Amino acid sequence: MGKELYKIMTYGCQMNVHESEKIAGILEDLGYVEAQDNEPDVIVFNTCCIRDTAEKHIFGNLGVVKAQKKKNPNMIVAVVGCMTQQENYDTLLREKYAFVDIILGTRNLEDLKTAIEKLKISRAEQKKGEKKYRYSSQEMISNYLESDDAIPVTRTSFPNAWVNIIYGCNNFCTYCIVPYVRGRELSRPMDKVVDEVRRCLDAGYKEITLLGQNVNSYGNDLKDGNTNFANLLREVGALPGDFRVRFMTSHPKDLTEDVVDAMVSSKKICNNIHLPVQSGSNKVLKDMNRHYTREKYFTLIEMLRKAMPDIGITSDIMVGFPTETEEDFKDTLDLVKQVRYSNAFTFIYSPRKGTPAADMVQIPYEIKKNRITELIKVQNTITKELSNEYVNGVYRVLCEDIAPKMEGMVCGRTESGRLVTFKGNKEDVGEFFNIRIKQSKSASLFGDKE
Ligand code: SAH
Ligand code: SF4
Ligand code: F3S
Repeated sequence: MGKELYKIMTYGCQMNVHESEKIAGILEDLGYVEAQDNEPDVIVFNTCCIRDTAEKHIFGNLGVVKAQKKKNPNMIVAVVGCMTQQENYDTLLREKYAFVDIILGTRNLEDLKTAIEKLKISRAEQKKGEKKYRYSSQEMISNYLESDDAIPVTRTSFPNAWVNIIYGCNNFCTYCIVPYVRGRELSRPMDKVVDEVRRCLDAGYKEITLLGQNVNSYGNDLKDGNTNFANLLREVGALPGDFRVRFMTSHPKDLTEDVVDAMVSSKKICNNIHLPVQSGSNKVLKDMNRHYTREKYFTLIEMLRKAMPDIGITSDIMVGFPTETEEDFKDTLDLVKQVRYSNAFTFIYSPRKGTPAADMVQIPYEIKKNRITELIKVQNTITKELSNEYVNGVYRVLCEDIAPKMEGMVCGRTESGRLVTFKGNKEDVGEFFNIRIKQSKSASLFGDKE
């Protein structure tokens, strides 16, 4: 008999992408292998609830699995991660999605192994007519778990390796569900992080991305006087080998000169930062509980560009927050034009139950839609203009993958985070190349090996 197959459906941010690598590690440890086109024996939904669209998408796909499970009752269906951690979702899943066998929250991933083992035993022993066994655990464990470091990881994004440095969030931006579903900040001890980075480098990874909802508050909860983000960058940047370090996400309120110094101190730390501004209006920033003003934000941009003139800066920007007027939105457009981001992720505000902003008077969807359309137009023009500036220059690019849908082409990134496509094959993945940029098309650059 062949090995049992697994499939993981991942939604949401990089944190989830990495957590799915841990889920894969746990499943492979249990003897499962990844399903290609065949139907899996176990399917795990690693969920997100940052916006309503994310949830709708997941519920839609769960519906498809319901039909599959009818045909194959032995299939195991697990729903894990952020969505399950919301109030009453356990009941909702129990009542409306009774075919789900396992429900795990954001801090109980390691229970997956036990859950599957118990489920299999109970299925083998189940008598006719007996109520079926389900495993559910969403306890918000609030201390750092040594066992986290023991979870096996099946990495899926060579030559990049994701490394968690801090879990959870303490910021409670008024629109955001993350602090409720991910719990309070928990930093991993610095030696554990550095150890993991070292192991990734030994295994041949060329890019390390340090992950946290707010990497700049790394170490605050440990209160040992030495663990902070700048020191971590210095330690990681001092490791031997030819590799790159990136990190995300930086909260503007906690970005210090010390972090910028640390970025400059090592060539291995990329001149690249994701610094979400959310809004350009001081009133909206205050209502969002972001703890900075547009003036403070401009000072940070100036500090970064002075220290690293070629730095690539990206952002998250939201339109349609409940208190956003046309004037406030104009402030956002103005900020975007002044900062000139290399790229920006733009979002329509989506009310999240249980967050303060969800109880405010909401803006009609039409207005939000018009605003995002205008914002995207402004940002696209800037992205295009900045892309043109790369043409004829030579940049060091780490080849990351075969270019999708382009025969004989590969793609990678400049240190500043720009996507570059060039001729190559799968042997090039994981190698650095000097690429002369020949052409630019909106956010993408095209070039040739020198
Ligand atoms: N921790 C990161 C971002 C996490 S969520 C940070 O603080 O920057 C990623 C992005 O989703 C946020 O930056 C924000 O722009 C967006 N987002 C969060 N909650 C949202 C909501 N309720 N509606 C729409 N977008 C939201
Ligand atoms: Fe959400 Fe704000 Fe925390 Fe980011 S910093 S995860 S936006 S609460
Ligand atoms: Fe979504 Fe959870 Fe990330 S809500 S954006 S998967 S932290």
